[in-house]
Amino acid sequence: MANTILVGAQWGDEGKGKIIDVLTEQSDIVVRTQGGNNAGHTVFVSGQKYVLHLVPSGILRPGKLCVIGNGVVIDPLGLVEEIEGLRRLGVKVKSTNLMISETAHVVFPYHRLLDEQREVRKGRHKIGTTKRGIGPAYGDKAARTGLRMIDLVNPARFEALLKLRVRENNEVLRAFGARPLSFSSLLKSYQAAAKSLKPFVANTVIHLHEAGRRGASILFEGAQGTFLDIDHGTYPFVTSSNTTAGGACTGSGVPPHRMDRVVGVVKAYTTRVGEGPLPTENKEIADMLHGMGREFGATTGRPRRCGWFDSVATHQATMVNGIDDLAVTNLDGLDTLEKIQVCVAYRVAGKRWTHLPNDIDLLARCQPIYREFPGWRQSTSEVREWKQLPAKAREYLKAIADLTEAKLSLVSIGPGREQTIVPG
Ligand code: GDP
Ligand code: IMO
Ligand code: MG
Repeated sequence: MANTILVGAQWGDEGKGKIIDVLTEQSDIVVRTQGGNNAGHTVFVSGQKYVLHLVPSGILRPGKLCVIGNGVVIDPLGLVEEIEGLRRLGVKVKSTNLMISETAHVVFPYHRLLDEQREVRKGRHKIGTTKRGIGPAYGDKAARTGLRMIDLVNPARFEALLKLRVRENNEVLRAFGARPLSFSSLLKSYQAAAKSLKPFVANTVIHLHEAGRRGASILFEGAQGTFLDIDHGTYPFVTSSNTTAGGACTGSGVPPHRMDRVVGVVKAYTTRVGEGPLPTENKEIADMLHGMGREFGATTGRPRRCGWFDSVATHQATMVNGIDDLAVTNLDGLDTLEKIQVCVAYRVAGKRWTHLPNDIDLLARCQPIYREFPGWRQSTSEVREWKQLPAKAREYLKAIADLTEAKLSLVSIGPGREQTIVPG
């Protein structure tokens, strides 16, 4: 398979992990390029559930190489725990199938504490972060005060650099009224994690280039979603990395002209976890999905906010990511509905909008304009062929792909690998 960038085309949790797992079969290498353990990618293999936070979802397919790229921020303790958890479930994780970029930045406990403190201070204006320290870690990267994996695995340098960082951050924590951190216990726990991770740490940019030259095909696993992008999302209710397709290049060192296609993943409806505008939010659909035991966050367990499919947003996602192919997941979530709404435009300030206003207050006031579709009212989760899908479901899928201006290439009707349909 050609080099493929996979992105979430909504607000995260689109089912990227499941689609990555399906597409990994045709790839040699899977690379995470941004975000950190704020991500939670769920994959079911033979009934076993795996939730990946930092390790690429490709790890579940034997013989594939997984790479955590330079654009990712890594909590080393979290990563060690994740690797151990995978090994307990019988997944092989060795330096032959997992590489970590030596220039990826490290997340520290002061990042998490600052994340938490800033949220508390924002009160009702909080972002609703995952409290994994992602914003402060990327903040340090931009401020050029961050430590990288290459520093973590160099004991003498790490100790000296960390001492300075802890001193400065403890002053900030004290100013927030939070407890300062103990340098010695932090150092000890990070030294232990460094020892475990050292065999995986490498120059991944050079490795990816050499693999590419040998003809390897690379799948870039996006985390979060288009509208959580630091530049193109609903700022400030976003994460701190570029979740859109460009992030795959900067976060891996593989240049744009080596990319062959972009796959956008969407749910057949919309969800969002955390604060910020969600124009098509709808209590009825949220109650229905939560009642089915669905749409609880894979990382924090928070109930996700739910709404109708928003083609204004997904069309914009096609624009900023260059989406070629669309993978629609969770179609089965709509199986019982009599009528299904799809947002085709917004109305606000006396105008009809076909893109998201950048003014966050205006976006919060947008009223969706809906087109109604008849429901198919039958279970789709056992369907394996496009032609076996109810005609109304096929019409719905074609309509949302047309509105998104992307080619419908995959449909998912359940969390399992086999619950995937290639449209005919
Ligand atoms: P990601 O962050 O984009 O990888 O998505 P998450 O794993 O956070 O959330 C997606 C959820 O939907 C997970 O619980 C998946 O197992 C589940 N899922 C993915 N595709 C389907 C589908 O087609 N049908 C159903 N019922 N569940 C799905
Ligand atoms: P995956 O990869 C959904 C959201 C948080 C919050 C905002 C900022 O599983 O799709 P952060 O902790 O990043 O500073 O939080 O972004 N968020 C996600 N929402 N899926 C994710 O990842 C997310 N990662 C962060 O809920 O609103
Ligand atoms: Mg998720």
